[in-house]
Amino acid sequence: MKNPNPLEERPFIDLVKHRTSCRSYQPGPLPKAHLDRMLETARLAPSACNRQPWRFAVVQDEATRMRLVDEAFLSGIPMRWAADAEAIIALGMEKSIVTHRIAPKISGVDYPLIDLGIAGEHLVLQAEELGLGTCWIGWIKPKVVRRIVGWPRGIEPIGLITVGWPVADARKTRPRLPPEETTIWL
Ligand SMILES: Cc1cc2nc3c(=O)[nH]c(=O)nc-3n(C[C@H](O)[C@H](O)[C@H](O)COP(=O)(O)O)c2cc1C
Repeated sequence: MKNPNPLEERPFIDLVKHRTSCRSYQPGPLPKAHLDRMLETARLAPSACNRQPWRFAVVQDEATRMRLVDEAFLSGIPMRWAADAEAIIALGMEKSIVTHRIAPKISGVDYPLIDLGIAGEHLVLQAEELGLGTCWIGWIKPKVVRRIVGWPRGIEPIGLITVGWPVADARKTRPRLPPEETTIWL
């Protein structure tokens, strides 16, 4: 699909269909207003008991970004492309929230991780609306991320999201399971 005019209003389904993980970035300044807007959509995300366990570290400083790329990725998946992103946002989970420590033990459902996923995807979809490319990176060394961004031990890094201007036509659409395989109607 052609990259649509980011300022043009478009139906949500089109935005979702157009988003793909971006692993090819071109240089260009990232306006702070764009990052602010992305972070605002994450801030407004729903969360279990409204506990908002998400924490974000926005890494724009080049030396710090390079440290993340050089040191914080696990081996096995080539991810040097991340060095070309203008920003890398670390997603961290605040571990001290009492309800989030107790409730998952009772139900077996990992609420804080769900909360982080929702907030992160809000951010990603807002970036898409602004014409930016993003990619979730979960193949990380959490302790190394924590050290590089300077978070205390009470914040557990759960992923990174690269942000930058996508190279035109670098998008690759990956297939999805058909609804018959994922959904039952009762
Ligand atoms: C939680 C999570 C972790 C991911 N980790 C990585 C990663 O470490 N490296 C990478 O290149 N892509 C990563 N991805 C991107 C997925 O590979 C991608 O979303 C999936 O293949 C579907 O492709 P699409 O995003 O282009 O639609 C991750 C995505 C999610 C949601």
